[in-house]
Amino acid sequence: MQADGWQAMKPGAVIEQRRPDGSLRHLITLEDLARSEIETLLERAQYYVREVGQRPPASERLRGVTIANLFTEPSTRTRVSFELAGRRLGAQVVNLEVQLSSRAKGETMLDTIFTLQALHFDVFVIRDAEPGVLSHVAAHVAPHVSVLSAGEAHLSHPTQGLLDALTIRQHKGAISGLSIAIVGDIRHSRVARSAYHVFRALEARELRIVAPAALMPEAREFAGCRRFERLEDGLVGVDVVMMLRVQKERFAQSEVPDGDEYFARYGLTAARLARAAADAIVMHPQPMNRGVEIASEVADGPQSVIRAQVSNGVAVRMAVLEAVAGGMAA
Ligand code: NCD
Repeated sequence: MQADGWQAMKPGAVIEQRRPDGSLRHLITLEDLARSEIETLLERAQYYVREVGQRPPASERLRGVTIANLFTEPSTRTRVSFELAGRRLGAQVVNLEVQLSSRAKGETMLDTIFTLQALHFDVFVIRDAEPGVLSHVAAHVAPHVSVLSAGEAHLSHPTQGLLDALTIRQHKGAISGLSIAIVGDIRHSRVARSAYHVFRALEARELRIVAPAALMPEAREFAGCRRFERLEDGLVGVDVVMMLRVQKERFAQSEVPDGDEYFARYGLTAARLARAAADAIVMHPQPMNRGVEIASEVADGPQSVIRAQVSNGVAVRMAVLEAVAGGMAA
């Protein structure tokens, strides 16, 4: 594909995610999903949830569908859960390690995609550090092919947003009644951005972001959220505390307190958590830095739902894969 094809899709520009009949074809952002679409996905995901120790769900809904996992950034949970989700729906899943250099990235990615399309791949699950790559690929694939984001730069991580919403619903009921604090490196976090979109769509009562000044997003982002620089203030009375990792790989670190100093000001300890509602839940997308953004007593404590988040990741990815590719199964 030509360089002008790449330039035509500006970073941040989002492609139409639906087919002409309105059904979901790609999932690159949650930004334009209606409340009803999100709720339908969450209900279907809930159908696939099983307790740990029970046999996982097995279906043939995606029999004959071939899925490629293309991850150019590290991933454990997201990659494994997309793989399991595809397999548990009866699809064939292939994991590809892709090494890409930055400037030529768009072209290289498309060459890879066209090769895989010729091999009858139908769904591309992509994680990439460069904004715009997902929409660029989606703009060039064959009409029957779907593109799913497994994390795009700092911009979006839609299946994480959905699994976070599902986890909250399971523990606290409807999101519309809740006060939710997202804490830590909001500025560089795709998890925070997708959480923000899904919580807004589901009409959370109150959204707060808590971060040191250097990790706060720009003023035009996270509209409607209350901003706090002191963790002690931001936690008061909230129903949900969502902790984030400092995304050291996404910026020069000098302006942000490190390690012990960060923990001293922003680490979630049991004493600080006591400022939230007595039945508040604690979330973290992982990987966790124990002793930096969260104390082990909290991460492993009774209010933590961090492991439920992981389990829900498979169920949500099953629901999303089924939504985009269920119509093409053999
Ligand atoms: C996150 C990610 O990659 O955005 N991890 C995940 O997918 N669960 C968060 C992080 O890396 O801190």
